[in-house]
Amino acid sequence: MDKYDKVIDLAKRRGFLWNSFELYGGAAGFFDYGPLGCTVKRKIESIWREFYVLNEGYMEIEVPTIGIEDIFIASGHVGGFSDPLCECTGCAQSFRADHLIEAIGVEGAGALNTDELDALIEKHKIKCPECGAALGKSYEFNLMFQTKIGPGIGRPGYLRPETAQGMFVDFQRLSRFYREKLPFGAVQIGKSYRNEISPRQGVLRLREFTQAECEIFVDPSQKNHPNFQKYAQQNLFLYPQAEQEKTDGSGKTISMTVEQAVKNGVIAHEFLAYCVALTNDFLTRVGISPDRLRFRQHLKDEMAHYAMDCWDAEVKTDRFGWVEVVGIADRTDYDLSAHAKQSKIELSVYVEYPEPVFETKFVVKPDMGKMGPLFKGKAKVVADKLKSMTEKEIKAATTGNEIVLTMESETFKIPKEIVVFGEETAKVSGKTIVPHVIEPSYGIDRITYCVMEHAFDEEEIEKTDSDDEEESEDNSQRTVMRFKNEVAPFQVAIHPLMGKPALVAPAKDLFNEIVAAGIMADYDESGTIGKRYRRNDEIGIPFSVTIDFEILENSTVTVRDRDSMKQIRVSANDLVQILKDLIREKKTFNESGKGL
Ligand code: GLY
Repeated sequence: MDKYDKVIDLAKRRGFLWNSFELYGGAAGFFDYGPLGCTVKRKIESIWREFYVLNEGYMEIEVPTIGIEDIFIASGHVGGFSDPLCECTGCAQSFRADHLIEAIGVEGAGALNTDELDALIEKHKIKCPECGAALGKSYEFNLMFQTKIGPGIGRPGYLRPETAQGMFVDFQRLSRFYREKLPFGAVQIGKSYRNEISPRQGVLRLREFTQAECEIFVDPSQKNHPNFQKYAQQNLFLYPQAEQEKTDGSGKTISMTVEQAVKNGVIAHEFLAYCVALTNDFLTRVGISPDRLRFRQHLKDEMAHYAMDCWDAEVKTDRFGWVEVVGIADRTDYDLSAHAKQSKIELSVYVEYPEPVFETKFVVKPDMGKMGPLFKGKAKVVADKLKSMTEKEIKAATTGNEIVLTMESETFKIPKEIVVFGEETAKVSGKTIVPHVIEPSYGIDRITYCVMEHAFDEEEIEKTDSDDEEESEDNSQRTVMRFKNEVAPFQVAIHPLMGKPALVAPAKDLFNEIVAAGIMADYDESGTIGKRYRRNDEIGIPFSVTIDFEILENSTVTVRDRDSMKQIRVSANDLVQILKDLIREKKTFNESGKGL
């Protein structure tokens, strides 16, 4: 078993992750979160909310997970959100054509079109990996799940492939909510759906998955970050384009501060760099090992159609190597401009200059006394169009002595002599702009799995010398999930040493007291204490409290530390406060009681 198998085996046995629809044989690309997995995932989400909603001030919204077609025409998903699909002519199994080619060691297939992929399949005589039969021609397969809204012929709809579009579609409302003051942003944590062609990476490639996305609207000319200093000296491990493009194999991850990355032009601007640093902070806080975390810049040919710069947080996994868990992109004005075009509604904000400026403008003044008789009821529309045109547009529309305009399939020829052109200088206090979008987009399921893999540890242990069978920890090896305290499914386990009423009653009282203090605790009185500790280690409970007979003599209990397996004896009266301090790392384990 490699680490992935070991983590998944533990996850299934202990109630973290289960194959969905197992009763009916399952389906690839879907996983259930069991009670412990769901708890860990929610804790990660709640830390994410602390970062983005509480600290950064980007409020949370919730929009439907089904979207109407216009949204995804505008976003480009209807036209271009596809992967190359190749079907076997024998067993009819589906494969990603680029993956089939990469599987024989040819790199870069992801950037090729279907004709190029077919040519390589033919050249390398690639056959169906399942049955060996010939493969059919590949074609682009749209990854969105399509549905119908309403009965009968209905209205086309799609399960959203990203939560981001909800924030773009609500832009006008959000802009008013934030009193049109850039930068502002909104977040969503919710499900997205992608009908992956053949998801073979277990829990790392799901057809239904949870995204936590933040869309921040910024002034395109102000991509500095108001709190940049918070992270300016933070060190990051970056894998920029230039390093990836080195052909002699010397390309590597480089370490530099956030400030250096911006100064040296490695990351495009402060705002993006701040979001990279924030992501670094978040991922390490939830338990990703800093030495297995890097930020990789997208190469020019892999950048999404909407992005001008994009960095992926990548986490090193045992089986799958570096896995993308977060994408941080500057999406420019792509989305707002696309939705403005599709909806025919301007999506912009008015930004005031720090000081008013004087601007000289080209002006067009049609003589309405002459436009009226010429264009009758259409005269105003034609005049308004002329007034809205720039000098360049007027020049382009001029043929000889006429300005030729076509509006709604009707052509208007305006004699130049009835139009006066000139310049006007006016005091201007601001301008209307289409904001750019900075997007940190997190894949919560991948992060949850990676946190589990990085927490997973197996260690050889020495047999404890306790003579008491009840108290001995007698396995020579233990599996321990070294979750961060705040991410562990339970922070504390409560155990009466034995199921005797004299111990059970005070143990239950302490359990109730701990739960009332807001600590997530598990109560367990079954099996030997050694077996209970092993179980706690396996599900990552950082502290175990054992109530033995000394509670009757001197009101003390023991607290065991998951990582060191050391125990201290503490007063039952102080237990809640001691646990709070330990969980919040305000006190070390050794400081908290009398060592045993
Ligand atoms: N919103 C970016 C993505 O879903 O990939």
